[in-house]
Amino acid sequence: MNFTDSLSHVRNQFHIPAGKIYFCGHSLGLQPKTAEASVLTELESWREIAIRGFTQGKNAWAKYVEPLRETLAPWVGASASEIGFMNTLTTNLHILLEDFYQPTSERFKIMIEDRAFPSDQYALASHLRLHGFDPESALIRVKPQQGTYAITEEDWTRAFQQHGNSIALVLIGHPNYLTGQAFPIPFLQQRAKECGAIFALDLAHGVGNLELSLHDWQVDFAVWCNYKYLNGGPGAVGGYFVHEKHAHRSRSHRLEGWWGNRAETRFEMRDTIDADSGANGRQISTPNILSLASLRAGLDIFSKLDPKAYFKRRLQLTSHLEKGLLALQSKAFSIITPSDPSQRGAALTLFFHSDAVPVEAKLSAAGVLCDFRRPNMIRVAPSPLYTSFEEVDRFCEILKSCI
Ligand SMILES: Cc1ncc(COP(=O)(O)O)c(C=O)c1O
Repeated sequence: MNFTDSLSHVRNQFHIPAGKIYFCGHSLGLQPKTAEASVLTELESWREIAIRGFTQGKNAWAKYVEPLRETLAPWVGASASEIGFMNTLTTNLHILLEDFYQPTSERFKIMIEDRAFPSDQYALASHLRLHGFDPESALIRVKPQQGTYAITEEDWTRAFQQHGNSIALVLIGHPNYLTGQAFPIPFLQQRAKECGAIFALDLAHGVGNLELSLHDWQVDFAVWCNYKYLNGGPGAVGGYFVHEKHAHRSRSHRLEGWWGNRAETRFEMRDTIDADSGANGRQISTPNILSLASLRAGLDIFSKLDPKAYFKRRLQLTSHLEKGLLALQSKAFSIITPSDPSQRGAALTLFFHSDAVPVEAKLSAAGVLCDFRRPNMIRVAPSPLYTSFEEVDRFCEILKSCI
């Protein structure tokens, strides 16, 4: 290595599973060492002051998400009032689809990238059906050219031209969960805008992985989970973004609950909601404090990082992995994630030309935890926070002995 690894010390802030090389941070991030204390703090408030914990204690629960919002806002390129934490990704997608997907008989189609995450496809299909449309014809999957995996700008342009003003909403997984391809968001937002469509992102694999500018990109809304690169814990409370331009959007299709009432009047217990604006107004229920407490530990780590150094390390780590894999000169697999660093994040997907089950079994026996998708894909995600360059080298050596 001919560069200095300025973030290598961050690894010490995580519990690393003993004897394992962990390349699954894109599925479930590792546990920050402070997560336990963070949860115990709130258990203590609950034990000692019970209901008063909402307004007193170390971190008043009624305002618990506020510092989390402040920390995450610069990492997604938003202001704190544009983002929030509640539920989980698919539930938040449903809630925001109800708000933003308002089809007419002329404009009703939903466009996604090919091989979008199944839960997104199920959620979108259910909204199409709820509105009386057939997902078979109304859910448009934009595919790459035959025999390739990357969707090009030409592929997108063709699809936008073909469906034009019939598109009501575009939802992109950025990056795609399977191929790892990151998309040209300003280009796609512009195409969606020209068609008059709402433009939304699923950032499950993007938050804490890609450099994001949700506000400047004019994304209408976005949803993500916090248990991957942000290390919030299994099933951690999800995150969402609603652009400032929609802060005062008509509430005619908004699903509401008392946590979307303005904080100042919430406990007046009125019969009709005194609705808040922006992301706050989209909240529905009492926050899940114990889950937010472990997420807080993950976000605390990000609050002390310089994003430039973080993204530089991500880039170097993934390039190092790519170099090591290419040096194997193996005919057993191809890397299907784009080699252009601007079109990917941390994860690389290896496509095996024959059954990858035996390879995965051998990797697992050798202590490597990576992610296997039947029948022949293995996704490898080094984490900029806790993967070392030496682990990447060891992984490549182990893989060589497995294929
Ligand atoms: C890209 C993507 N979208 C959606 C989901 C669903 O997330 P949740 O189970 O939190 O709803 C996942 C989960 O891994 C995902 O990777």
